[in-house]
Amino acid sequence: MSAREKTQFICQSCGAAAPKWAGQCSECGAWNALVEKRPLTPRSGNWVTTEVADVALLDAVPAENVARVSSGMKEVDRVLGGGIVPGAVVLLGGDPGIGKSTLLLQVLARVEGHLQTLYVTGEESLSQVALRAQRLGLERLDLPVMSETRVEVVLATLEKRRPAFVVLDSIQTLYTDSLTSAPGSVSQLRECAAQVVRYAKTRNCTFVMVGHVTKEGAIAGPRVLEHMVDTVLYFEHDGGSRFRVVRAVKNRFGAVNEIGVFAMMDEGLREVANPSAMFVSRHAQAVPGSVVTVTRQGTRPLLVEVQALVDAAGGPAPRRVALGLEANRLAMLLAVLHRHAGISLGDQDVFVNVVGGMRIQETAADLPMLLAALSSFRGRAIGNDLIAFGEVGLAGEVRPVQGGEERLAEAAKQGFRRAIVPAGNRPRRSFDAGLQVTPVARLEEALAAAFETAG
Ligand code: TYD
Ligand code: MG
Repeated sequence: MSAREKTQFICQSCGAAAPKWAGQCSECGAWNALVEKRPLTPRSGNWVTTEVADVALLDAVPAENVARVSSGMKEVDRVLGGGIVPGAVVLLGGDPGIGKSTLLLQVLARVEGHLQTLYVTGEESLSQVALRAQRLGLERLDLPVMSETRVEVVLATLEKRRPAFVVLDSIQTLYTDSLTSAPGSVSQLRECAAQVVRYAKTRNCTFVMVGHVTKEGAIAGPRVLEHMVDTVLYFEHDGGSRFRVVRAVKNRFGAVNEIGVFAMMDEGLREVANPSAMFVSRHAQAVPGSVVTVTRQGTRPLLVEVQALVDAAGGPAPRRVALGLEANRLAMLLAVLHRHAGISLGDQDVFVNVVGGMRIQETAADLPMLLAALSSFRGRAIGNDLIAFGEVGLAGEVRPVQGGEERLAEAAKQGFRRAIVPAGNRPRRSFDAGLQVTPVARLEEALAAAFETAG
């Protein structure tokens, strides 16, 4: 029997198999979606097996606490949920040029003494990797590196060397001979990642796979792999700044939304131990339109500055622009402001922005967003020793948010003296650093508290 007879054509949109190629999938009707799949080894065609698997009772299974190995970088350990987990597969996504290879080379250099490692690159030549290592001051390190793009060869090499920590840079450059589609296509990505995951679980080897976020419209982004891996990290940054944030968007071994903060320097990425200082531009004098809030990124409270600019609208449709915040929420909050505080910004353009390029996706930013807008509208500064957080409801009520005390503790630590917080977040302890907390239940109270004492 020849392998040719066993060739199948797999639809890339619904996964249906067909014995012959056709222009249209007979299952889902997608056009040009069938891709040839050759079996790796010809089979006998017998799917019935006499083997059966063991079934255990859950209460008899010992719950194992995962032993973690430090990556040598605190910020990396933090996003991973406490360190490297043996056998875990991590996907590190991000735009080209953001610093993925740099970060991983730095991690490899720190891990090498504790774990056997291997750096597999399909993106760059080995001499390019050596050049980067030189730039990072790591040229004298014995780091095993390999330039290879065939996944079967990679895995066979791993099987021989048995490293415990492997970096694949990048998953898009890997391909398998068992598929005829081009490297980087969805089917190649899935198949290669599946083989890697299978290897990771059988050999308890940790993988970090780099995945480029391709420009919108390109299909083969790392998103299609998110469900296959244990941890998904994304590298983010705002244009121009040297600060980089690595965020966990999925983690079977830690908190989601956890962030690690880095700065890209001439000699590689440097960890930023106190990121609160970074997202707040401490103005020497309080300026209108600026309010500091405490947001929570994963388990970490972080001070950020929300800025607003409110100006007479240039046209009949006033603009509502939100950067780092949600524009729909801004529009809703302005309606609440009108209805419950009697302040109309209907003939004004409203722009809000989060300093430092941070993205806030929680409702705790409602109150600071409104305070900043109003502060700009009135041209009155809210003191620069004040922080505010809280969700604002449609009825004009100020609702509590998660982690109120941690937020207040962070504000106190950074030297803030006044806080406007939801009544539901009234702290049960006092903050010795002299933070005076004003709990408010309604929007009107919050506005009074903010502007009554404003300088
Ligand atoms: P790189 O790690 O190659 O990005 P990625 O793997 O995500 O594509 O980093 C690329 C950028 O980082 C490049 O533009 C140069 C800059 N860089 C520094 O500023 N300092 C350094 O020490 C290194 C190695 C790179
Ligand atoms: Mg790279």
